[in-house]
Amino acid sequence: MCGIIGYCGPKPAANVLVEGLRRLEYRGYDSAGISVLKEGNLTVFKKKGKINDLKSILPDHINGKSGIGHTRWATHGEVNDINAHPHTDVSGRIAIVHNGIIENFTSLREKLVEEGSEFKSETDSEVIAHLISSLYDGDLERSVKQAVQLLKGTYGIIVMHADEPGLLVGARNGSPLVLGVGDGEMFLASDVTAIIAHTKQVIYIEDGEVVRITADDYATTDLKDRPVDKKIEFISWELEEIEKEGYSHFMEKEILEQPESIRRGMQGRIDLEFATGHLGGLNMTSQELINIERVKIIAAGTSFHAGMVAAYLLESIARLPATAELASELRYRNPIVERNTVYFAVSQSGETADTLYAMRELQRKGARVLGVCNVVGSTIPRESDGGVYIHSGPEIAVASTKAFTSQLTAFYLFSLIMARMRHMGTDTGLSFIKNLESVPERVAEIIDRRDQLLALARKYSGAKDFLFLGRGINYPVALEGALKLKEISYIHAEGYSAAEIKHGPIALINETTPSMFLVPEDSLRDKVITSMKEVKARRGPVIALAVDGDQEIAGIADDVFYVPQSHELTYPFLMVVPLQLFSYYCALELGRNVDQPRNLAKSVTVE
Ligand code: AGP
Repeated sequence: MCGIIGYCGPKPAANVLVEGLRRLEYRGYDSAGISVLKEGNLTVFKKKGKINDLKSILPDHINGKSGIGHTRWATHGEVNDINAHPHTDVSGRIAIVHNGIIENFTSLREKLVEEGSEFKSETDSEVIAHLISSLYDGDLERSVKQAVQLLKGTYGIIVMHADEPGLLVGARNGSPLVLGVGDGEMFLASDVTAIIAHTKQVIYIEDGEVVRITADDYATTDLKDRPVDKKIEFISWELEEIEKEGYSHFMEKEILEQPESIRRGMQGRIDLEFATGHLGGLNMTSQELINIERVKIIAAGTSFHAGMVAAYLLESIARLPATAELASELRYRNPIVERNTVYFAVSQSGETADTLYAMRELQRKGARVLGVCNVVGSTIPRESDGGVYIHSGPEIAVASTKAFTSQLTAFYLFSLIMARMRHMGTDTGLSFIKNLESVPERVAEIIDRRDQLLALARKYSGAKDFLFLGRGINYPVALEGALKLKEISYIHAEGYSAAEIKHGPIALINETTPSMFLVPEDSLRDKVITSMKEVKARRGPVIALAVDGDQEIAGIADDVFYVPQSHELTYPFLMVVPLQLFSYYCALELGRNVDQPRNLAKSVTVE
């Protein structure tokens, strides 16, 4: 989704902005622009395409010391230079960048047009520039405050005025905004990756707050002009973590990092003495935990698939009723909040609008919602009633990989805690821990075998359609495999329970539609084999993910990728990693933009 950045300081603003926009590229975008205040006037450069396209229209030296920048992910109006941000008012003295959606822009626009404003773009965002202009009386901060009170929808904005050089004003409602506090320089941005190269001291701006920055100072107030005291927080991520460090793609780096990221997610969270887990961030006493009668998990995309695995696991080992639901659907069905139910909002970014709004809806109804998030300081963990940081490190590729296995890690620990409280004995607890602790090493073995997945990708990447089929705890992993393949290779892929193919999808099977079967050694293995045979009988090509030593599968499938033997409940980790690699290699074979696939955004901050 859109990324925004603002800078005030001694450096040439254009350079800082363009570098910041590069770091925001991972969010997904289709055009970019900057505005810099130079010799009393605003200069605006904006261009459809990538940051390099924007760079190609920038003069060699732009001396301005303050400015704003934007990467646009189109919602209102097609992708072109005019619809790109920044947008200016009629006088060209006010410029704004906006992340979010203004829902009442049509009525505001009509009114402003009647009053003489001339609009250049088709965007909802441009209305903000004209609105501020219509209210401006020499005090930018005041007019921003008045303007945002007339907006309906979501926004993270940064505004500048040529008459107030060296000042930027930011405001937030529903879209992230962070202030970076530097030494003689200040930053505003939609996320910390844009500014981490300059400062690690940040202040998270909340909904309803307005921030003003100059090179040496900042102030945060609410819409009624009351000062808001904010705490400076320290970002623990290192700059190297958001760089490729020699890998071809962030996705490759992030897949290969998983042995380490899974291990990190367990660190300090295993209590061998009592054979349980320890998740201090839940903010729940043992009494409160034992009183939980039901768990409901809400999320979107890959995080939803992790939630589905978690629900299966909680029921299986903790005997605790658990379900996972798409946050976007839950929000609009007037959910019933039951007593003694704990909700988890799962989100890598912690900013996904569907998940955030569903969480707020639940909280308004009195639910306790815990976050399972990666990005420290993001909105979901800040607004949740507690939770778990998954500590997978920055995930930059649009396709989520290591966050999925880290989300699983967090839920495996939570399930262990609940199981041990409810009925699981010490010995079983210890063996569960042993199995979990062996996962990173087994994932590393799979990574060592990745050449075989490259060969499979070469053989199958020409397919137009693909099926991914699994059962039980691996059924959500099949869904995840299909999502991964379609989002980065654009091959049409569907995930199903293997049992379901006979209820419809088998009609798709022919010589050119491959099926990827997940066949771990578990109680459903024989049932999956039956489904495989049904596909083979219809001449469908079959690839199987099976467990070392399972020769029977080799006799049925056209190709087999073997994963190391493990405990049956840990196979989701071992099945998903080959699927991630397979998708990655298919996308490479097809020459796709792996890290920034078309039409997608990393953090989906609009509904
Ligand atoms: C995953 O590869 C996707 N890009 C997407 O489905 C993602 O998982 C979803 O948008 C949810 O994001 P979140 O985890 O940041 O909430």
